[in-house]
Amino acid sequence: MIKRSLEFARQLIFESLRDGDIAIDGTAGNGNDTLLLAKGVGEKGKVYAFDIQQEALDNTYKLLVNNKLERRVVLIKESHDCLKQYLGNLKAKAIMFNFGYLPGGNHEIITKLESTIPAIEQGLEILQKNGIMSLMLYPGHYGGKWETDGVITLAKNLNPRHYTVLHYNLINLQNFPPQLLLIQKKI
Ligand SMILES: C[S@@+](CC[C@H](N)C(=O)[O-])C[C@H]1O[C@@H](n2cnc3c(N)ncnc32)[C@H](O)[C@@H]1O
Repeated sequence: MIKRSLEFARQLIFESLRDGDIAIDGTAGNGNDTLLLAKGVGEKGKVYAFDIQQEALDNTYKLLVNNKLERRVVLIKESHDCLKQYLGNLKAKAIMFNFGYLPGGNHEIITKLESTIPAIEQGLEILQKNGIMSLMLYPGHYGGKWETDGVITLAKNLNPRHYTVLHYNLINLQNFPPQLLLIQKKI
């Protein structure tokens, strides 16, 4: 079965995780990706989840509590371009970015290319060998096309000896469908 982009990203990321791994959610939002990562890293693992909105972190915390997984997650109210500041020398097996606005929240608070690019660059440094980063991009909303094009340009220019990059795009969908990039670090 060919999966929708987000479903495909989630499956690949989940399958890559093992007990004890470190994972990062660069955009916690309503917590769905954070929850998936928390399940994937197991009892001994840790997830670091970032969002600039308290509402998003509250929603994420509630979802984790409902699933009794809140102890596996560190919630951080900070922009994702501060990843390195919080992770230090830790290496992550998986990093998820799901850009755009908070569903059910203020649609004017969106991820922006100026912080998205440094966040991705820091994430690529933090990623361990064979680790995977997923990037869900939404060109349909105001500012989304600019961000999508900028991120795809960055990804296209990554050294192929260091990274494998997949652009997953369901091309017969109408109205600016979401775009998924998957980046695996080779060395
Ligand atoms: C599409 S939502 C994320 C969905 C989420 N991963 C989930 O599973 O429900 C995008 C989120 O990015 C957050 N955001 C916007 N700018 C950000 C930034 N600079 N750093 C971290 N999060 C940011 C928004 O507040 C919003 O909650």
